Amino acid sequence: MHSVLSVNHWNREDVYALFHQAELMQRGTVPQIGGMAAMVFAEPSTRTMVSFQMAATRLGMNICSLDALGSSLSKGESLEDTLRTLQAIGVSAAVIRTGHDWPRSLQRSFSDLALINAGSGVFEHPTQALLDAFTLYQEFGTLEGRRVVIAGDVAHSRVARSNAVLLNTLGAEVYVSGPPQFAAADLEQWTQWLPWDDAVSVGDAIMMLRVQNERHQDRDKANGEDYLTSWGLTHERMQTMQPQAIIMHPGPVNRDVEIASELVDHQRSRILKQVANGVLVRMALLWQCIKGGRREQLVSA
Ligand code: CP
Repeated sequence: MHSVLSVNHWNREDVYALFHQAELMQRGTVPQIGGMAAMVFAEPSTRTMVSFQMAATRLGMNICSLDALGSSLSKGESLEDTLRTLQAIGVSAAVIRTGHDWPRSLQRSFSDLALINAGSGVFEHPTQALLDAFTLYQEFGTLEGRRVVIAGDVAHSRVARSNAVLLNTLGAEVYVSGPPQFAAADLEQWTQWLPWDDAVSVGDAIMMLRVQNERHQDRDKANGEDYLTSWGLTHERMQTMQPQAIIMHPGPVNRDVEIASELVDHQRSRILKQVANGVLVRMALLWQCIKGGRREQLVSA
């Protein structure tokens, strides 16, 4: 069994092999691997959980779902013991979202249970970064030299952290922008900071981030209208974007806070394309983890 814990473990060849497998699945080559996948979510989710459920279903898998309140995690069982239990039951893959950094005790793979990080605190969201990169690859053919702007609440964003690393691996130029209180010093080695109005006009892709009010101290809380005017993607700013540039957002979206509501559904927006691509990329990841392996060729039908 293989696991997907972090984007740090991916190189360019592995990522493009994954994209190839996702494309083959899009064209109808869908192996039926059977078995069961467990969803273990300690934080809320719509896109990640449901797209993993859809991906597993398309691969002929059954699904079970555990949340922190409705499982023995609420009785004090450790996550590691919960996963050992799932492995003993015969579950093939556990898709796990944690409210904190990925636990040290789960850094190594279980022999018969694939672990997939579905978002860990503010630190990592590797499958989101992979589906975002797949969306950029479908749009532009290659990420080499492409300029990707990640803007908004960078400090609290696991999406920003995983994207900054993975996009660098794939040869993109990564820029960050947003309010000073949401800057993230740990991303300086992967990104260049630009003033917001400059950033909008240089990017091939403008990736807006959700203002994560639930992670903020009171002093950081954003007022919707003021935030949109100062730091959001407005219609006026959209008009300064490069002609080929696209709008991205990992979701969920705060309409009229980080992005004007009308732009969520604009022809430049790839927000729902990202969601749809999430199913394909997660199908390919589940297949790799359970049956294939990163370099294994998925044979077309
Ligand atoms: N992008 C993302 O992780 O969305 P969910 O929280 O809905 O899974």
